[in-house]
Amino acid sequence: MLRFFFFLLLAFALLGDARIFLFVMNRLVFGSHRHEKSPWAPLMWITPIVLLILTSLFWPLHRWIDWMLRREVIDRVTPEAIERVDWDTMLGKAGLGWLMIAAAVGVYWIVETIRIRAKGEERPQGVRDHPPELVTIRRAHIPFGWLRRLGAHNDVYDIEITKHEVFVDDLPEAFDGYRIAFLTDTHVARVIRPHFYEEVVAQTNRFEPDVILLGGDFVTWHRHIPLMAETLVAGLVARDGIFAVLGNHDYWAGGADVRKAMSERGVQFIINRSAVLRRGSAELPLVGIDEVYRGEPDLDAAFAGLRWGPRIVLTHHPDLIMDMAGRRADLMLCGHTHGGQIRFPFFGAVVVPSRYETRFASGFHRVNNVLMYVSRGIGAIPPLRILCRPEIATFVLRQGGRTKP
Ligand SMILES: [Fe+2]
Repeated sequence: MLRFFFFLLLAFALLGDARIFLFVMNRLVFGSHRHEKSPWAPLMWITPIVLLILTSLFWPLHRWIDWMLRREVIDRVTPEAIERVDWDTMLGKAGLGWLMIAAAVGVYWIVETIRIRAKGEERPQGVRDHPPELVTIRRAHIPFGWLRRLGAHNDVYDIEITKHEVFVDDLPEAFDGYRIAFLTDTHVARVIRPHFYEEVVAQTNRFEPDVILLGGDFVTWHRHIPLMAETLVAGLVARDGIFAVLGNHDYWAGGADVRKAMSERGVQFIINRSAVLRRGSAELPLVGIDEVYRGEPDLDAAFAGLRWGPRIVLTHHPDLIMDMAGRRADLMLCGHTHGGQIRFPFFGAVVVPSRYETRFASGFHRVNNVLMYVSRGIGAIPPLRILCRPEIATFVLRQGGRTKP
């Protein structure tokens, strides 16, 4: 019984270690770095080693108790035993202390996850979701036999077209029914079959968008810029054009070259500036904000000259929602997180490169005057997605009250 309790404590402690490791990874290693290689990258190795050493410290105490119990009473009071006591109990106490802390973190993680699951997904007012469509291109290889045996499936070629309506109180009548397609984090690379990108383009065009918005991270490597412009951008068609912002990976791969290759094919970049979508005399501003790691987000410049009214905002990183300082965005479109890319049953997304960890991993979120949608994006690095399909997000704007969609 005591041993069972002890192993349960150990299991929770290991879970707590995992949570602390994820905290360090999400917030420091992936969540805030200007250069491609994070200065915090060594923490990826150091943190688990330190955590496991801390967790294993309780063993000396465990072994010392066993050792003492095995001895005759008379033998217990010997210089040898006392020597062992000093060293072992000190480490043992530290280990037991850490075991309690880590187990508390593990239990908190489980309780918090149950609370979030019980509450259901965040559903801001003014949005309506329709059942998504699924287009399966081909089966993708999944590494590790044990993962396959567990029933895991690599989703990289299973495109999900999500469908949302967004209700805006004071949307000009002319924009009622306006159609927006949003593609992000394409990470175009040769390892992915070209047919996949052709299908993404075909499915986006099939939605017959009024405007196509691109959320950045078009490539991971410089050498794939021409391929990206050719396979992705060339075929996209929208009445009011294609607008884009850059992502951190575009900057790392070569921001100027990404911009050039895409601009030559008619993509308009809105980086810290706005453009205006028009329907007759009605106008709908479209605001683009630079990326937060490597770019220079300038919200004052981006929103300069805009009157208070409906507007669409495009930026790469969802963390920017916390810097909007009361500015209005009726639909802010972001990517970057890949929805966590590998999701676990029960826990969902665990690795999310954000200061807010899993909070903005995907879907709709409202903070003050901003309604944000975070797409899971198209690509994946490495090309492995589990329980997290690539996404073409589509939106239809509706004039109407948030309270009565
Ligand atoms: Fe990104």
